[in-house]
Amino acid sequence: MKYYVLFGPPGAGKGTQAGAMVERYKLCHISTGELLRSEIAAGTELGAKAKALIDAGNLVPDEVVEGMIEAKFNSVKNVEGFLLDGFPRTLAQADALKDMLSRRGESVTACISLMIPDALVHERIANRAKLEGRADDARDEVVSNRVKTYHEKTEPLIAYYKAAGLYREIDGVGTIEEVRNRIFEAMEK
Ligand code: AP5
Ligand code: MG
Repeated sequence: MKYYVLFGPPGAGKGTQAGAMVERYKLCHISTGELLRSEIAAGTELGAKAKALIDAGNLVPDEVVEGMIEAKFNSVKNVEGFLLDGFPRTLAQADALKDMLSRRGESVTACISLMIPDALVHERIANRAKLEGRADDARDEVVSNRVKTYHEKTEPLIAYYKAAGLYREIDGVGTIEEVRNRIFEAMEK
């Protein structure tokens, strides 16, 4: 099985590119952000707890997302691998993923990292706010906090996956198609 980590700051294009990646490589797409938004929409207890954190641009507790990922690994069948979009996002989550996979005799295949500058994060999310109505896109101070959280808590994973020899950085600036072709090239290396 392949286990790809799809990494990048908010608005980098993870969700946008995931569709073509899962189709081409027969993967199951798991976006922890989307799973959490479904919990909120379904009015679950977990969703209620997560909502305040997400709406402020903060991370939800590691155990919450780790549990969601493991549940998917246990339930999804008939795929050639998984595309983890927005997970891991902290060093603790990366270690938890490593342990979860090693218990299955598996390991991370590669970390595909989409990089865009902070100014473009704000521009893309401002555009998406007009189209999709995500609560955490609506206010600029929340978007700024998501960017800050990314730099503080998530960016250290770059060194983590570089040290493991798994880090593949892709320039996320360009058309959706240009970025997609760069991703496929990196995955086929
Ligand atoms: P999550 O849903 O993962 O949000 P995010 O990481 O902030 O990323 P986005 O979904 O905003 O961006 P994206 O990279 O998918 O970009 P997209 O393709 O949509 O997480 C939300 C929240 O949930 C977190 O803040 C946290 O609270 C919680 N959470 C989630 N995972 C967690 C975890 N592991 N641990 C703890 N908490 C967690 O693109 C953005 C826009 O740009 C779109 O409009 C798109 O059409 C456009 N676009 C994309 N590519 C291009 C291009 N090449 N050119 C022009 N426009 C483009
Ligand atoms: Mg997304």
